[in-house]
Amino acid sequence: MALSANGVIENPKGIPDWLSQEYMQGFMKICQQTKAVIMGKKTYKILAPDFLPLKEDGTTIVLTNDTEALPPNPTVVFTNKKPIEIISQLEKKDHTAGVIIGGSRTASEFMQAGVVDDVYFVVEPIFFGNGLPIFKDAEFEYKLNLLEVLKLNSNTIQLHYAIHK
Ligand SMILES: NC(=O)c1ccc[n+]([C@@H]2O[C@H](COP(=O)([O-])OP(=O)(O)OC[C@H]3O[C@@H](n4cnc5c(N)ncnc54)[C@H](OP(=O)(O)O)[C@@H]3O)[C@@H](O)[C@H]2O)c1
Repeated sequence: MALSANGVIENPKGIPDWLSQEYMQGFMKICQQTKAVIMGKKTYKILAPDFLPLKEDGTTIVLTNDTEALPPNPTVVFTNKKPIEIISQLEKKDHTAGVIIGGSRTASEFMQAGVVDDVYFVVEPIFFGNGLPIFKDAEFEYKLNLLEVLKLNSNTIQLHYAIHK
């Protein structure tokens, strides 16, 4: 996920004009590698249909209470299942890894459920005085192992952490 330097994941305008090209490339790459992408309905509504990272292949899991709604194609699943159930659903489809792309509510729920092994944060060179934090209203505390720091361009870094369990 992309963060401002003060941990916010959307700007007050709701326009992703603060995200670097390098972030977008890394985002697409990890989605293509795992072929299993998990997101909340709010994020889905922003991305679909043109900017969804997986179009016709892989599995796109969308958390929503509106499970009656019909997904546009069979690779998209609308679900209100718990994180642990979603993971076994992905395993049944032979996925060995999945990437949670946001937003805050979805990332917080998966973190709280204790099912996240690795985190990639791309820190963009900007502060927002307001906006949605990466995690919110969740009960957890994890210690992290810093695996890698990558400078993606002159102002943007990528942090790769493993979560201590
Ligand atoms: N910077 C980044 O990397 C990044 C990445 C992704 C998103 N974002 C930003 O994050 C914002 C959206 O984040 P958000 O936290 O507001 O929303 P979100 O996590 O994208 O979606 C929340 C929605 O997901 C559904 N949901 C979540 N947990 C559920 C559960 N356990 N059971 C059933 N449904 C569940 C609900 O949908 P229903 O209302 O349909 O029930 C809920 O309203 C956007 O502004 C987006 O731009 C930033």
